[in-house]
Amino acid sequence: MTNHKFLEGISLDPYVDGKRLSVSGATHPTFDPATGEVICDVPVSDSSIVNKAVDSSRKALKGAWAKVTPAERSRMLIRIAQEIRLDAERLANVESLDSGKPLREAKGDIETSARYFEYYGGIADKLQGDTIPLGPDFVSFTMHEPIGATAHIIPWNFPLVTTARGLAPALAAGATAVIKPAEQTPLTALMLPYYLERAGVPAGVVNVICGPGSTTGAPLTAHTGISHVTFTGSVATGKAVMLAAASHVSSVTMELGGKSPVVVLADADQDAALEGVLKAIFTNAGQVCSAGSRLVIERSCAEPFLAALVARIKTFTFGRGLDNPDIGPIITHPQLLKIENIVNESIAAGADLIAGGKIAKPEGLGGWFFEPTVLVASDPSTKCVQEEIFGPVLTVQIADNFDHACELADGTEFGLVAGIYTKDVSKALRFSKYISAGQVFINQFFAGGVETPFGGTKNSGFGREKGLEALRAYYSVKTVTARI
Ligand code: NAI
Ligand code: MG
Repeated sequence: MTNHKFLEGISLDPYVDGKRLSVSGATHPTFDPATGEVICDVPVSDSSIVNKAVDSSRKALKGAWAKVTPAERSRMLIRIAQEIRLDAERLANVESLDSGKPLREAKGDIETSARYFEYYGGIADKLQGDTIPLGPDFVSFTMHEPIGATAHIIPWNFPLVTTARGLAPALAAGATAVIKPAEQTPLTALMLPYYLERAGVPAGVVNVICGPGSTTGAPLTAHTGISHVTFTGSVATGKAVMLAAASHVSSVTMELGGKSPVVVLADADQDAALEGVLKAIFTNAGQVCSAGSRLVIERSCAEPFLAALVARIKTFTFGRGLDNPDIGPIITHPQLLKIENIVNESIAAGADLIAGGKIAKPEGLGGWFFEPTVLVASDPSTKCVQEEIFGPVLTVQIADNFDHACELADGTEFGLVAGIYTKDVSKALRFSKYISAGQVFINQFFAGGVETPFGGTKNSGFGREKGLEALRAYYSVKTVTARI
């Protein structure tokens, strides 16, 4: 392990049934993507540990967790939020080091993680059923029961905050959980048990196991003891997880990729739109499922807008996340090469490169960086229009008018989010009705927060996280009807 001061005392061992298991055998490295150096080697949880974790979650479900009243569950969740906030500085530094994201973004993620526990803490004691009127001879009512032991497969781009997004509503609904962080960014998930214990969460309610998808994720999602799988990641892995879940008839939440449009109309506040577009694509170097990776802009305002966009990009700094650059590193070398390939193939297919386009090598850093890049594509079938790049690459599509902008915006197999900048309320609302997307942002990209339901349509997946909607995944409804 490197001697980074924020890593002192973090146990890398899987957390199962309230204890750290010491595991011998295979390990996997986690890297600092800015330097390309190994931060530490993390023990791999194989299927025997997966089994122990699932067994522990199932035991806790009917045991210790069932005895905790909803009111106390509520207080526990709020205490978890407090514990996270108390250690926020350290968590943000570890998250930034492990994932490469700029420290200010990591700080935002940690606060949002705390906020999830606080938000769902507020509802844990208010999840109540209905009574159903059937006339004088019957009494009928519904009960909300915890869905069971749940599996959470976490991606590397938002490690702790994606964990909190699924875990907090699961716990609020009385379910238990096995968390598998991404092998590229396991550290903050490994810190989580510390806060859970201080908040009084009983052993077995949350288990954290680490390892690659093949050794740890696959046996977890295929385990017959798992009642729901919450997955965030690629479309291909999402399909594999759905098949695994189907084998034991478990429900799933699928938060998959996107190729989300940001529409800028000529009547929009162009300065606000520019800030929105920059944030939409360059947050976390574009490694965001809901990134606004396509700018669809009306022809009449395109030229000055693109000139201003390119001028701003030229001022961007690169660096380690911990040094708070504009653009941090790409998570892995293969991911860097994937970005380079799609950019090169798109240029070869006719897209115009107007900024960036190459792997970057900031001085003194041996890690994985890509220049902020802008491609203008007139053919909607070009790869940079259709494929999720997951890097700092913006594809521009020029629209003749509003209707054409709507058509271009809707022209991919994805449907996660969509943004529009305009002063015309009717156009904004027409667009909102027209577009296939789980959420629409009007005049502010990424508008909303933990309170606003989030999820996809088409290849971007299904099921909703965040807000009250997320809770539905974690309880089942039992109807009791009596003839009296
Ligand atoms: P991935 O989908 O393979 O990995 C996500 C998670 O799934 C990780 O925890 C991984 O260990 C786990 N996993 C992998 N195979 C599994 C299996 N068979 N069963 C259960 N769990 C499994 O994504 P990866 O390889 O990290 O990135 C590839 C592409 O996916 C990216 O370039 C990006 O386009 C997309 N992606 C989208 C994300 C989103 O937020 N929607 C997040 C991460 C990646
Ligand atoms: Mg790492």
